[in-house]
Amino acid sequence: MKQRIHHCLVATVLLATSFAGSTARSAETITFSEHIAPIVFENCASCHRSKEAAPFSLLNYRDVQKRGELILTVVEDRYMPPWHVQSKDYVFQDHRGLTETEVALISDWVESGMAEGDSSKLPALPKFTGGWQLGEPDLVVSMKEGYTLYAEGPDIYRNFVVPLNLDEDKWIQAIKFRPGVRSVVHHSLFYYDTSGDARQRDAADPVPGFKTMGRGTERGGAIGGWALGGTPKMLPDGLAYRLPKGSDLILSTHFHPSGKEETEVSTVGFYFADEPPSQRFTGIQLPPVFGALAGINIPAGDSAYTKTDSFVLPVDVKAFGISAHAHYLGKCMSMTATLPGGEVKELMTIPDWDFSWQESYRFDGYISLPAGTRLDSEVVWDNSEDNFNNPNVPPKRVR
Ligand code: HEC
Repeated sequence: MKQRIHHCLVATVLLATSFAGSTARSAETITFSEHIAPIVFENCASCHRSKEAAPFSLLNYRDVQKRGELILTVVEDRYMPPWHVQSKDYVFQDHRGLTETEVALISDWVESGMAEGDSSKLPALPKFTGGWQLGEPDLVVSMKEGYTLYAEGPDIYRNFVVPLNLDEDKWIQAIKFRPGVRSVVHHSLFYYDTSGDARQRDAADPVPGFKTMGRGTERGGAIGGWALGGTPKMLPDGLAYRLPKGSDLILSTHFHPSGKEETEVSTVGFYFADEPPSQRFTGIQLPPVFGALAGINIPAGDSAYTKTDSFVLPVDVKAFGISAHAHYLGKCMSMTATLPGGEVKELMTIPDWDFSWQESYRFDGYISLPAGTRLDSEVVWDNSEDNFNNPNVPPKRVR
């Protein structure tokens, strides 16, 4: 109930702003070609085009006019463009969001009847690189065979082996993962294996891929991952993952059946560095192992089950990015850094966890965290029936 009232207030305030906007511009007609297309091409088209994350294109007048009212609602609510992280202390790269003026323009345009205007004034569409946002990769590989998953049933975790046939060591600056069927792939973690162990497990299992990953050996390692809503980014200068010659790539994928039988063939693009890295990097997870050892045990109906964890940095650190991961019950998450002098910095807060947007966020430049800085994380899960992503109706205890 409280939330409802809050929503109404927001709508009222925005409406008032847009009226003010229209009086100021009343002499001029707002048109798609001149005023709206530049906003949509710049802020929406990267996802709203064929084969990208969004379910429909927004690339021309018809596309946008047809959904005018809905577009106005989602931009006023700040539901689109999607952006979920915040920090009062640090700025993130590639922030997505419209300005108040842009929202007011869209509002005026929709309310004044969505004129097309002079199409010779249309801006050019941005150049998109056929799904490879970072340009053509140095190496592109795909799963050897499709994996068919059932229409309905529990989520599936499965590992696939992709031979890379590298005859020298490589240094990875970025990996772009492209699911074949977006609607069923929730995330994929990347590993390499030089032991041949994964190949053997794959061969021993009659269906493509195999079920359980072996525990880390010296001849394998983790090289990142992708989750729904993620966009690939180059590691900052001088940093790279090592990929030894002869490695197989292992995709450890979590599938969520969609109600329709689907066959997945994932594709991966590698971007290599020219030189070995000059520095090392590592990730710190709080709680570690995606919470597997944290004793998570959420009673049915608990709407704010909370776990916290802390870690004191033993050495000086320069941090460049942050991310969060959860599934259907995630509600909100945050991480702070308490500097040795006692000052508390907000590294990130995701106030309203959205299972569809598991992005990794880059800080704008490195953040200095001196030795002795304490990191504190808090994860909150909602296992009540008010969480409409809750797969259990009625809710069940979740460990
Ligand atoms: C980073 C990718 C991305 C960007 C950028 C983006 N969208 Fe979306 N949009 C999506 C995805 C994915 C969905 C479908 C899932 C959802 O509704 O969250 C969606 C859904 C929508 C919907 C349907 C919502 C509904 O309730 O059915 C509208 C309307 C929309 N977007 C408009 C926009 C507009 C306008 C912009 C630019 C101001 C924009 N989007 C920018 C990815 C994006």
